[in-house]
Amino acid sequence: MTLSPDSLIDFRSDTVTRPDSVMREAMAKAEVGDNVLDGDPTTAALEQRAAKLLGMPAALWTPSGTMANLIALSLHLQRGDRFLAPRGSHVITDELGSAAWLAGGMADPLEHDAGPGRPTPDTLSAAIGTPIGPYYSLRTTLLCLENTHNSAGGAVTPPDEHAQLLAVAKQAGLTVHLDGARLWHAAVALRVPPAALTVGVDSVSACFSKGLGAPVGSVLAGSAEFIERARRMRQMLGGGVRQSGVLAAACLVALDRIDELAETHENAARLAAGLAEHGWEVNEPETNIVLAAAPDLQGRLKLLDGLGIRVLPTAGRVRFVVHRDLSAADIEETLHRIRTGS
Ligand SMILES: Cc1ncc(COP(=O)(O)O)c(C=O)c1O
Repeated sequence: MTLSPDSLIDFRSDTVTRPDSVMREAMAKAEVGDNVLDGDPTTAALEQRAAKLLGMPAALWTPSGTMANLIALSLHLQRGDRFLAPRGSHVITDELGSAAWLAGGMADPLEHDAGPGRPTPDTLSAAIGTPIGPYYSLRTTLLCLENTHNSAGGAVTPPDEHAQLLAVAKQAGLTVHLDGARLWHAAVALRVPPAALTVGVDSVSACFSKGLGAPVGSVLAGSAEFIERARRMRQMLGGGVRQSGVLAAACLVALDRIDELAETHENAARLAAGLAEHGWEVNEPETNIVLAAAPDLQGRLKLLDGLGIRVLPTAGRVRFVVHRDLSAADIEETLHRIRTGS
């Protein structure tokens, strides 16, 4: 959808995309059943396809990424367990403390000393320490990775670094969950299949509603036994959606569009380059998120608001999330408004 010059340009998130006519048609035609009672065929087809793509034996559709992560953490953690995750991970900072409140875990953040969003294996190893010590000591039982790392600017962890972190975690007996809300983005940026980025994990979540255009929907994948337990937990959390095939149909269309993320990444790169030409200090985006430093954050947000450019602040920076409903022309229009101040 191309926006007219006088309209708002929405970079707040890649969740603001709207289902297009192809997706709506697929939703209208979806074959459905009662997914709580005896199953929904379209949801089952989506789960099978997603499991295969993610390289896991089984998968479960969930209404949101937050629910997928919460189910995973609830099943992996015992009350009072310590879990490790890169600093600024969504499960620590953006899920309202549900990892502690509902899943019973205590988060300890890992520094990004290998690069944005990425701790080194040494940092992980030092943080784990002795995972299970004497009876009076804290238990560290879970590593929760995030690829791409949202608040680090859509930062990608490549397969070799993923493997090193997994080796350290597994050596120490930790379970590993991967928050792959934007795993599709990482796969496209690295030109590898998504399954190359999940090797060794016990569970992975991924979203259809971020950048791929679906109105709703995520998936949690893992072993068949884990997914059966996850199905019960989803029901407890009120995530048992009856004719979910209407929604799963949109997610199936979303999966057809993974390759199109390359265009989104090109647009993000163009936006970052244009902002840098204008003197802004920005990250070099690895995927679809551009972070701009702003000494006067509130002033910068106000300026953009006045120009009809919608953004959100993230960790003290201005975050532009590029997505499929923004065209190359919209990026040029954004840069034009910033350059001319009108
Ligand atoms: C990395 C990451 N994980 C999980 C989520 C949660 O997804 P949802 O908004 O579908 O609950 C988000 C949302 O932006 C995210 O960026």
